Amino acid sequence: QNVGCPSDRVQRGRFGACLMLEADRVRDGVAAMRDAVDIPVTVKTRLGVDDRDSWGFFSDFIGTVAESGCTVFIVHARKAWLSGLSPKENREVPELRYEWVHRLKRERPGLTVVLNGGIRTVDEAEKHLGPLDGVMLGRAAYQAPWLLAELQARWFEQRGTATREEAVEHMTDYLREQVERGVPAARISRHMLGLFQGRPGARRWRQYISQHAHRDRANGDLLLEALAHMRAVAPIADPT
Ligand SMILES: Cc1cc2nc3c(=O)[nH]c(=O)nc-3n(C[C@H](O)[C@H](O)[C@H](O)COP(=O)(O)O)c2cc1C
Repeated sequence: QNVGCPSDRVQRGRFGACLMLEADRVRDGVAAMRDAVDIPVTVKTRLGVDDRDSWGFFSDFIGTVAESGCTVFIVHARKAWLSGLSPKENREVPELRYEWVHRLKRERPGLTVVLNGGIRTVDEAEKHLGPLDGVMLGRAAYQAPWLLAELQARWFEQRGTATREEAVEHMTDYLREQVERGVPAARISRHMLGLFQGRPGARRWRQYISQHAHRDRANGDLLLEALAHMRAVAPIADPT
């Protein structure tokens, strides 16, 4: 259940972040969901909305919702402004308060508490693990997806993808399969645009995909071609 989204459309439907003002309703809704499904029901929330932004408000909200039996809370560590800010601004303007998420875990150690908001690197994420149960990354993982391989290498035993080239090969298997089924190549390649972010040739990689993805809708080799195009000017110095 998402009680963190500030968009107008969501507010008109009375779901998203405005539900933080109706803790009893959220508790009852989550309890009903838990009754209806066999999979875990989790709650993703903000710290507050508008001028309801005190620690007491946040803590009471979590306490009430936890009465539903839900034990997993993912906290986007800033409040939302329900009017005046766009959803994008609501992911940037309200101040981040990581300390509140840590305090929540200290005061309610039985809950699984996951921190979200503004985490951009493996090191930043690591600072919160230990005291907290998890970290959720949104934009950083999208803008520079190789971050996911770094996280895999740092924390998980199962070997991940060793190099960006290997990731391109794996994604090519998937791309070919999907293109065969009629899925436009761009729908997959757009999520790979940031793969070489911060590396030599990143711009050529991005440009090649942007220029060809729509024209060659059914090209399962699009990513391999982009790689070759990029390597023609940026040979591998450090293969990762
Ligand atoms: C394009 C976009 C769409 C999003 N859609 C959702 C959504 O459907 N549900 C949700 O809980 N959060 C959604 N979010 C918010 C993210 O999950 C996350 O809470 C927010 O981006 C802050 O984390 P970050 O700083 O790591 O990006 C979205 C964010 C972006 C950028």
